[in-house]
Amino acid sequence: MSHAATHHREVRLAARPQGPLNEGHFEIATVPVPEPGPGQALVRNRLMAVYASMRTLMNEEPGLPMPRFALGEPLHGLAIGEVVDAPGAPAGSGLVPGALVQHRRGWREFAVVEAADALPVADGPHDDPAAYLSMGPTAWIGVTAGAEVRAGDTVFVSAAAGSVGSFAGQLARLRGAERVIGSTSSAAKGEILVRELGYDAAVLRGAGPIEDQLRAAAPEGIDAVLDLVGGEQLCAALALANRRARVALLGAMSGQASGGTTAPVELDTFDLISRGIVIRGMPGLDHAHLVPEAHREIGRGLRDGTLTFPHARLKGIERAPQALNELLEGRHVGSVLVEL
Ligand SMILES: NC(=O)c1ccc[n+]([C@@H]2O[C@H](COP(=O)([O-])OP(=O)(O)OC[C@H]3O[C@@H](n4cnc5c(N)ncnc54)[C@H](OP(=O)(O)O)[C@@H]3O)[C@@H](O)[C@H]2O)c1
Repeated sequence: MSHAATHHREVRLAARPQGPLNEGHFEIATVPVPEPGPGQALVRNRLMAVYASMRTLMNEEPGLPMPRFALGEPLHGLAIGEVVDAPGAPAGSGLVPGALVQHRRGWREFAVVEAADALPVADGPHDDPAAYLSMGPTAWIGVTAGAEVRAGDTVFVSAAAGSVGSFAGQLARLRGAERVIGSTSSAAKGEILVRELGYDAAVLRGAGPIEDQLRAAAPEGIDAVLDLVGGEQLCAALALANRRARVALLGAMSGQASGGTTAPVELDTFDLISRGIVIRGMPGLDHAHLVPEAHREIGRGLRDGTLTFPHARLKGIERAPQALNELLEGRHVGSVLVEL
């Protein structure tokens, strides 16, 4: 698609899903390229991310601290694009034609973005613009402010092969963790955790009780937990938690994967009190001030080779719904991006 394009495609929410996603929940509409007004930029999107909370935002009542997707309207989410036009952009804003910017109006080939919401990435911490779309900052927030991972810790990360988890294990290791254990869904993904993503051992959902597997993988107990799953996996982590362990609650995939929002656990509070366990709910938005630091640290690690950014790329906006579905089904390792 060229600059002179008059029309472009956007992906709209056609129906609110009750369970697993299918094609009928999305509509790919061809619409006129919008005109930017003063104080806005027209951006030609190059790359967008899909992530698990997008499934939750499709619900009638997502229960997340961000706007849900509206029926008949394009979805939205993190994207990187090239400024085409920015009438009246203030000098020094960096919003010049050709500049790459990060913004939150993905799921469309062209986007009109408020100038204040378009962040130029030219002088930023990442060499590869795709890294701005990683969930590394959530992992950083969980590892530092949430679970306070420190030298010598044994750490457990659930959904360890996903967008957040694939960074969480590596970052825990960089913070000095001695043993890092992750959960995933298959032996093949477990091998990748150990070979490529800084994990020492994997436990597998669907391969017997997680608590038994975790006990075998962490015979000395667990000091820090990054929980992205809830349910049985959180229960197992709490059962194995050492005195004064820190538990960061970041996600609830065991409920979210099929469209729900709950991942309940039964807690023995007397037992948790006596062991001095700290459990923290960690909505990323409450810790947004840590995001620039996260990108700096992750950028440094990606450059010096101490970190890797595993991700899959699907080509074409028409494959964005499939990309989201494949992410939820656990078909990939790391983030899932769509090239537009
Ligand atoms: N607190 C925050 O601010 C914040 C920010 C970003 C994301 N999150 C949350 O973090 C969680 C992970 O997000 P993400 O974007 O990184 O997604 P993701 O981990 O990339 O993708 C989801 C992964 O969950 C696993 N999974 C699927 N169904 C599952 C089930 N029934 N039980 C357990 N695991 C299942 C799959 O991995 P395997 O095949 O390897 O099991 C899949 O790859 C989500 O709950 C998301 O909402 C929170």
